[in-house]
Amino acid sequence: MTTPTETLISRASTLFREPLLWVLPEPVAGLRSMRSLSVMHSFKPDVIALQNMGITASQSWPEGPFAAVALALPRQVEWACGLLAEALERLSTGGTLLMAAHNTRGGKRYAALLEEYFTLSFSDSKNHCRLVALERPATLPDIVKIWKNNYTPKPVAGTSLLTLPGTFSCDHVDSGSALLARHLPILSGRVADFGAGWGYLAHHLLQQQSPPAHIDLFEADGNALEMARRNLKEWERRLGFFWHDLLSEPCPHQYDAVVMNPPFHDLRDASAGIGRGFIAAAAKALKPGGQLWMVANRHLPYEEILKTSFSSWRSAGDEGGFKVLTAQR
Ligand SMILES: C[S@@+](CC[C@H](N)C(=O)[O-])C[C@H]1O[C@@H](n2cnc3c(N)ncnc32)[C@H](O)[C@@H]1O
Repeated sequence: MTTPTETLISRASTLFREPLLWVLPEPVAGLRSMRSLSVMHSFKPDVIALQNMGITASQSWPEGPFAAVALALPRQVEWACGLLAEALERLSTGGTLLMAAHNTRGGKRYAALLEEYFTLSFSDSKNHCRLVALERPATLPDIVKIWKNNYTPKPVAGTSLLTLPGTFSCDHVDSGSALLARHLPILSGRVADFGAGWGYLAHHLLQQQSPPAHIDLFEADGNALEMARRNLKEWERRLGFFWHDLLSEPCPHQYDAVVMNPPFHDLRDASAGIGRGFIAAAAKALKPGGQLWMVANRHLPYEEILKTSFSSWRSAGDEGGFKVLTAQR
């Protein structure tokens, strides 16, 4: 699949200006030829891929002003609009905003939204992506403030926790994670929460009568990790936070237990390969005798890798389309 970033670079190359800010680009070769480039990214695997191409990405917004800002917009609307608002504020007057989004990820909707509030200077459609560009007016329409104000941490229903739109399961506790929490025994020693999101599982462990001495949270989505840090502030002395790609970076410690609800798709693809990668990473990070506790959609084939990577494993629960699996290193 040709990505929105590649499509925008190939179809709108004459519209890019310097200095240029790219927001959430997929790590594609075309970025290498861009000069005076800053990149803002929150997903660690993409940040590592960009680094391997010689491009440094920062998790925070650079100051600006920029002559052009290009965005590969995510599917979640409040997040996408929040990004548009921040991008517009960093453009100099007359500077170019370029937007690309796949049609299955809101491309048409975002193009229509921008057309409603701005005069478009470019509009195109290719590779199932919508592309638009506009010149930043001297005065931004009021909607930009609304977009910015809507992108703030919101309560997660049924919890005392907050998270940002666009993070995993941002308005409710995931049913699989809730099932795992109900099956978790008391875990002691040093525990790792793999793919910790905004901190639901770690929070559950910390509420137990006898919580683990220490929990390290590993998470690729920098926005979710920041929310976990905020949600768990009162326990910070016994916590570690790692903006981390579990599929390519080794863990810095050995653990008595790992808990996880691994993703079965990344930002773009669905695959059980990511979950298997999480299981392999857990096997490496656990001390001999350490325990893995995980939940997965019932149809995902994780039993074989549990059998080959651990000394024993068993099913500990099966409910509502999810299975809880546990294994001993
Ligand atoms: C199914 S969610 C579970 C989140 C959280 N544990 C919960 O129960 O709500 C999986 C999490 O893994 C994160 N993730 C995806 N790929 C990752 C990777 N390569 N390394 C670390 N975390 C990753 C996602 O951002 C997401 O927050």
